[in-house]
Amino acid sequence: VRGVAEAHDRAVSTLATPPATIALVDGGVRLDVGGRIAVLHPQWLRDRSTEPGQVDRTNRQRLYTPLDLPGDLVVVGYAASDGAVVAEFSDGHRATYALDALMRALGWLADAEAPPAPEPWSAPLDPLAYVDWAGIGWDAATADPDAVIAYLDGFFRFGFAVLRGTPTELGTVRRVADRLGYISGNNFGWVFDVRAEATPTDLAYTPIALSAHTDQPYRRPVPGIQLLHCLRNDAPGGDSTLVDGLAAAVALAADDPDAHAALAGVETEWRYDTGDDTVVGRGRVLEYEPDGRFHRIRFSTKLDSPVPSPGVDLAAYYRGRRRLAEWLDDPAHRLVFRLEPGDVVVFDNHRLLHGRTAFDPSLGSRHLQGCYIDHDGPDTMYRLAVRRRASMSR
Ligand SMILES: [Fe+2]
Repeated sequence: VRGVAEAHDRAVSTLATPPATIALVDGGVRLDVGGRIAVLHPQWLRDRSTEPGQVDRTNRQRLYTPLDLPGDLVVVGYAASDGAVVAEFSDGHRATYALDALMRALGWLADAEAPPAPEPWSAPLDPLAYVDWAGIGWDAATADPDAVIAYLDGFFRFGFAVLRGTPTELGTVRRVADRLGYISGNNFGWVFDVRAEATPTDLAYTPIALSAHTDQPYRRPVPGIQLLHCLRNDAPGGDSTLVDGLAAAVALAADDPDAHAALAGVETEWRYDTGDDTVVGRGRVLEYEPDGRFHRIRFSTKLDSPVPSPGVDLAAYYRGRRRLAEWLDDPAHRLVFRLEPGDVVVFDNHRLLHGRTAFDPSLGSRHLQGCYIDHDGPDTMYRLAVRRRASMSR
């Protein structure tokens, strides 16, 4: 892996870039590449050094702590040549940096390993693109990186993928989860069975229709990505539904900004309680990063309650909740499909909402097994597939 990572660095350092102009400013380096300007803080630059003794050769982790460097560290000398920047520091250290690695760190060059950004969808994707499991398979070392990247490209853009052709044996979902990422436990166990039960611990374990919802909003952390593997689905009904919560949030922000602000601002409590088991979590229905990027939707109208406090606009909150429910329930926005035995639907539980139509357990059976994986698994899988494809093409 180290060889591949180093090859990646070498590969990016050969990119053609405009000449850089550099100067010392405020103890750091002022970098000007084709009119794009940044002042690189001396500590930031010093910590990016990969000269011998600075980072471990295998894991690239720093071998020193902040206390090993002077607090008044500055850059005292510099040079630029052949797509590289050389800096000399007041602690005597001298390091060479590939110019395009610096540009990538500054966001001036795209990170070739970064998965694609989400694309909101407000109508079902037609046709539904099934992913053939044979292209992914059980072994990362022999998988076709193009097939892995194609699967993940769809997953990151649209928030879901449907894998077809996995085994139809009990426990398959656990093996698939181990291949796609890191399984995360939950209050129903590592793997849960979705079928009609006599004493259901959740409405999922009944034959009734389930409107669009996200799972386990009460958990800390809220499960990231859900997998549902179909073992049997021959009862009338029981079709699966998916709808994009990101697109719903975009629509609400445009149609009713006050209601959108209430859902993003009012604290909500989600409470799961069967008497024997209780899990309580708080947060916002719509959560955003400080820079405005969408972070997460939690929508489960069976379990939610806003927390009243002075100044909280519950009228706007409930208007927004109702509008979201209408948007999410609209057949024009919703994808409806039928899981066949061996299919696995994989979806982002922080973005997509899922549901199902009612089924009749007296005329057949419907049995899914599900589990959750964390968000970083597919991210890692994408980055390693990009590296593997690059190393195979050399
Ligand atoms: Fe669910």
